Amino acid sequence: MTFRGRRLPLLAGGMLALLAGVLGGLLRAGLQVPVLRIEHVALHAALMIGGFFGTVISLERAAAHGRAPAYGAPVCAVAATLTLVFADAPVLALLLLAASGAVLTWVTWRLHLRQPMLHSLVLLVGAACFPIGALLWLASGAFDAALGFWIDFLVLTIAGERLELSRLMRPAPGARRLFVALAALVVAGAAAWAVHPPAGQALTGIGLGALGLWLLRHDIARRTARAAGLTGFIGRTLLIGHGWLTLSGVLMLGWAAGLAPGLRDAALHAVLLGFVMSMVFAHAPIVFPVLLGVPMRHHAGAWIPVALLSASLALRVVADVAGLPGVHKAGVAGNAVALAAFVLSTLAAVVLGRRRATVGGQDLRPTPSSHPRPPSARG
Ligand code: HEM
Repeated sequence: MTFRGRRLPLLAGGMLALLAGVLGGLLRAGLQVPVLRIEHVALHAALMIGGFFGTVISLERAAAHGRAPAYGAPVCAVAATLTLVFADAPVLALLLLAASGAVLTWVTWRLHLRQPMLHSLVLLVGAACFPIGALLWLASGAFDAALGFWIDFLVLTIAGERLELSRLMRPAPGARRLFVALAALVVAGAAAWAVHPPAGQALTGIGLGALGLWLLRHDIARRTARAAGLTGFIGRTLLIGHGWLTLSGVLMLGWAAGLAPGLRDAALHAVLLGFVMSMVFAHAPIVFPVLLGVPMRHHAGAWIPVALLSASLALRVVADVAGLPGVHKAGVAGNAVALAAFVLSTLAAVVLGRRRATVGGQDLRPTPSSHPRPPSARG
């Protein structure tokens, strides 16, 4: 079986983490949904960031690296997911997540050595935030000590990839230096968060807000957003995500200042759903075909999850700030519907892609040899 064939079960493991994480989050928000285990309510963040994103990001990185040892990272993340979902062994799950993060960091280091660039260094720092967060959680017994680092794991991974492509926009040296300063600020924020959460939230908030503005100014998505079809879809969805990142910074400053109890939920999901999930929606049409070797065809329905996510998240944030529990529940339910719509939209793109790939009975799908290892092929 090729590496590509082995990626599907790993991706399925990641999707299991997403399902258990969403159900745990919905029950946490007071919606009556079935959960696989009641502990998933408290393990929501571990399932979402460690299980789902730990698997997907390390799988993509392993595919870029191309050698078997690199797959140790997604395998450990899936093993952690199975432990979180089916067994009552949170310490073992955290050890597996720390191991996954350690392998991911090693793989990212090896890739950096192949092509030492600023963006690959940012990816390396982002990767290292994953095991650091897991070990801090293990050592302190409290998730909050890990929260800043796990946000940085996702944000710096995405920002590093966007920085790679922003070079096509030829940002001035000053702009790149500013990017480095902002990346350093969010890492300093994560470290402060582990010791004094309000100070960490404030530093992280300033960093995230400014990084969002940097991406809105320098990301190539500003140019591609004007295009038609898939390119325009990716560009506009990226800009929407950058908008949420900017807003998350403001909400996080409000949280740090203790302005409203709901700001914790609002700030966290503005960045983790609004920014991070919008990035997933934008990149999926590029990443999944490369990872799994299945052709996908862009369709107008892909806009439904993008619109649903931002509309329901706006509802959630307004409800959080204004203290409207009923409206909050509606927003949270809408978030889950948006994620389900994304899965359906992706499956529809695969079906359409296959239909196009088998014109007149001839199979036009790319064969493993016709497809090089995936560089970070981002729109
Ligand atoms: C439909 C999707 C989601 C639902 C229903 C949901 C629900 C929730 C709820 C109700 C809370 C508690 C908020 C509080 O009391 O302050 C929460 C916290 C949190 N969520 Fe989500 N969430 C979702 C998506 C995500 C995603 C995609 C991520 C990460 C990528 C994420 C990461 C977190 C984290 C880190 C926390 C704080 C830790 C905690 O309190 O356990 N959530 N979520």
